[in-house]
Amino acid sequence: MSGHNKTNEAAVMTYIAEYSKSIETPELFWAEKAADLAWYRQPEMILSKDSNGIDRWFADGELNTSYLALDYHVENGRGEQTALIFDSPVTGHKQQYTYAELRDEVAKFAGVLKEKGVGKGDRVVVYMPMVAEAVITMLAIARLGAIHSVVFGGFAPKELAVRIEDAAPKVIVSCSCGIEISKIIQYKPLLDEAIERSRHKPDACVILQRPQAEATMIEGRDTDWHQAMELAEPADCVPVKATDPLYILYTSGTTGKPKGVVRDNGGHAVALKYSMKAIYNMEPGEVFWAASDVGWVVGHSYIVYGPLLAGCTTVVYEGKPIKTPDAGAFWRVCAEYKVKALFAAPTAFRAIKKEDPDSACLAAYDLSALETVFMAGERLDPPTYEWTTNTLGKPVVDHWWQTETGWAICGNLTGVEHLPPKAGSSTVPVPGFNVQILDAEGNELPRGEQGSIAIKLPLPPSCLPTVWGDFNRFKEGYLSEYPGYYSSGDGGYKDEDGYVFIMGRTDDVINVAGHRLSTGEMEEVVAGHPAVAECAVIGINDSLKGQQPIGLVLLKNGIELDEAELEAELIAMVRKQIGAVACFKKAVVVQRLPKTRSGKILRKLLRQIADKQDYSIPSTIDDPASLPEIETIMARRGLITS
Ligand code: COA
Ligand code: AMP
Repeated sequence: MSGHNKTNEAAVMTYIAEYSKSIETPELFWAEKAADLAWYRQPEMILSKDSNGIDRWFADGELNTSYLALDYHVENGRGEQTALIFDSPVTGHKQQYTYAELRDEVAKFAGVLKEKGVGKGDRVVVYMPMVAEAVITMLAIARLGAIHSVVFGGFAPKELAVRIEDAAPKVIVSCSCGIEISKIIQYKPLLDEAIERSRHKPDACVILQRPQAEATMIEGRDTDWHQAMELAEPADCVPVKATDPLYILYTSGTTGKPKGVVRDNGGHAVALKYSMKAIYNMEPGEVFWAASDVGWVVGHSYIVYGPLLAGCTTVVYEGKPIKTPDAGAFWRVCAEYKVKALFAAPTAFRAIKKEDPDSACLAAYDLSALETVFMAGERLDPPTYEWTTNTLGKPVVDHWWQTETGWAICGNLTGVEHLPPKAGSSTVPVPGFNVQILDAEGNELPRGEQGSIAIKLPLPPSCLPTVWGDFNRFKEGYLSEYPGYYSSGDGGYKDEDGYVFIMGRTDDVINVAGHRLSTGEMEEVVAGHPAVAECAVIGINDSLKGQQPIGLVLLKNGIELDEAELEAELIAMVRKQIGAVACFKKAVVVQRLPKTRSGKILRKLLRQIADKQDYSIPSTIDDPASLPEIETIMARRGLITS
C-alpha cells in the first residue's frame, strides 16, 4: 500500500497483520475465532475436505446456533437485556423481547414444530413479512436442528412454488398478511396457490393471523400460530454437526431456476460472531439495526444471527425509509433505540434524499448514539455516499457481499482499524477472503486493471459448500471457470492501495432496489407471451433503484398489435409470475436483436448502449445494422441514461 500519511500507515499495518494471518495461516486464525463460541463439542478438525472435495470448516465440531444466539446469553447473565425490538410504523405496534423472553418464545414455537413432526435435517419454509414471529420461527427451526428456507414476501406464488418443490419442506410457516406502506398484501392466498402449484405438499402449515386481514384456514392442514403456542411444550436445543445445514436461501442465478444456497451451522456462527466486532465494531449490549428483510441474506445474517450471536440488541422494522410516515423514519428508529450501527441498501438513502434533500426531517432526532452507517446489496454510488456522509456527519462504510458468502467479502474493518475511505470502493478484502482480479484466462491482473473478481480457495467459514440438491450446479457455476478460485460473478479492480472497486455483475443478474434478480428469469416469462418470438431483458441505470429491468421484444412474423397493450400485458405477466419486486415496468418492440453468428444475443452490447457507454462492435456480430436501429428505439422511449 502507498500514498497514506503516517497515521494512516499505522492503521493499514493493523489491518494487514489481521488479514495476512488469515491468509497465511487460515487454520490458526479460524481456530482462534472458533474458540470464542460455546460448542457442545469443540472442533479439532479446523479445515478438511468433504466427500465432494470441498473445503469444510470445523467438521468434527458440534453446536446449536439457536443455543448460541439465545440460551447461552441467558445462562451468562444477559437474560434481562433486550434481544429484539419490533417496530412497525405500518401497524403502530411496538414490542420488545428480552433474551429470556425470546428464548422462551423460540423454545415454545420449536415445540409447535416438533409436534408437527419437524426434526433434525427436515426443511421448513418460512413465508412471512417483517414481524418478530419471523425471527422466532427461524430460531425455533434452528433449535430443532432443522433447516429453514425463508422466501421473501415480494415473490409471487410461482416463485414460492419453485422453492417449495426444491426444498421439500415438512412444514410451512406463514402469515395472513403483510403491510406495504398502507397496502395490505394477503399472504395466505398466495401461499395456498403456491402449494397448489407445487408437486411437493407440506404435511402442515402454521399461520400467524394478523388483525389487518384474517386468513381462511384449510381444515386438517393449517394451524393457528397463537392457538398452537398456547398448547405447546417448549423444546430443547438439538446438537448438530458444524457442517450440517442451518438454512437454504434461494437466490437468483443466470437461469430461470433459483439456486438454493446452503449455509452450514459452524462456519456461519464463527464468521458472523467475528464479523460483529471486526467489521461492525459492535460490543454485547449495543443496538444493531439492519434495515433489510428476513427474506434476504442481509436479514438472515444481520437482523437475526449476527447481532444475537454477539449478545447485541437487534431491530425488526416493518416499514420503509420513506412514507412510514415520512423521510425521517430511519432517523426516528435510530434515535428511539439508540442504534449504534445502521445497515441498509444505498437505495434506501437515495429514496430519503429524493424525498427530503435538505434533510429537514433529521432535525427532530438525536442521533448521537449512531456511530457508523453500513451499506451493501448494490453499488454505493459516490453521490449517495457523499450525501449520507455529509447529512449525518458519520462515517459511511460500503461493503461488498453476496448471498453465497453470508458476510462481507470486502469492507472497512471498523473494529480492527477504520481505514481512510474512498468513494466508490468497498475498501479492502475482509480477513479470510483472498480476493484476486483475473483476466479471461485466469491470470491475476495488475493493480488498476479491471477483470473478474475471484476468491482464491479455500473460502473462509460461512461460504456455501454446495447448492441444495445440485452439487454440479455449484461446481459448474462457481468453481469451474477459474480452477482453484470461486468466481463471484462481479467485475472490478484493485487500485494501487489495494482498495477494491466493484463495478457490477458480469452475468445476467441485476440489482433493483438492493434486490437481486435474474434477467434470464424475466426473459422466460416475457418469451411466454404468444406474440413474442424472442426477447432480451437487460438492467439499465435507475436513479432511485440503482437498476431497472427493461424488455426488448421481437414479435412473431405477421403479428400486428398495439405496443402499449403488449407492454401492459408483459408487465402484468412478470408481476404475476415473479412478483411485484421484479419492478418490470418497461418493454419495447424492436425489429431485430443484435446477435453473434451462432445466434447468441449480445446483451452486454445492449447494456452498453442503454448506459451510453463506448462499445466496440464484436467481430462475431451477425447484423451490425441492428445496433443504430435499437439505439434509436431506446432513445425514443427515454431508455438511454448515462
Ligand atoms: N411483500 C410484498 N410486496 C413487496 C414486498 C414484500 N415484502 N417488498 C416489496 N414489495 C412490493 C412493493 O410494494 C412494490 O409493489 P408495487 O409495484 O405494487 O408498488 C414492489 O414490490 C417493488 O418494491 P420496491 O422495489 O421495494 O419499491 P418501492 O417503490 O415500494 O420502495 C424503496 C422503494 C427505495 C423505499 C424500497 O425499495 C427500499 O426500501 N429499498 C431498500 C431495499 C433493501 O433494504 N434491500 C435489502 C438488501 S440489503
Ligand atoms: P445478494 O446475493 O442479494 O446479496 O447480491 C449480491 C450482489 O449484489 C453482488 O454480487 C453484487 O453484484 C451486488 N453487491 C452487493 N454489495 C455490493 C456493494 N457493496 N457494491 C457493489 N455491488 C454490491
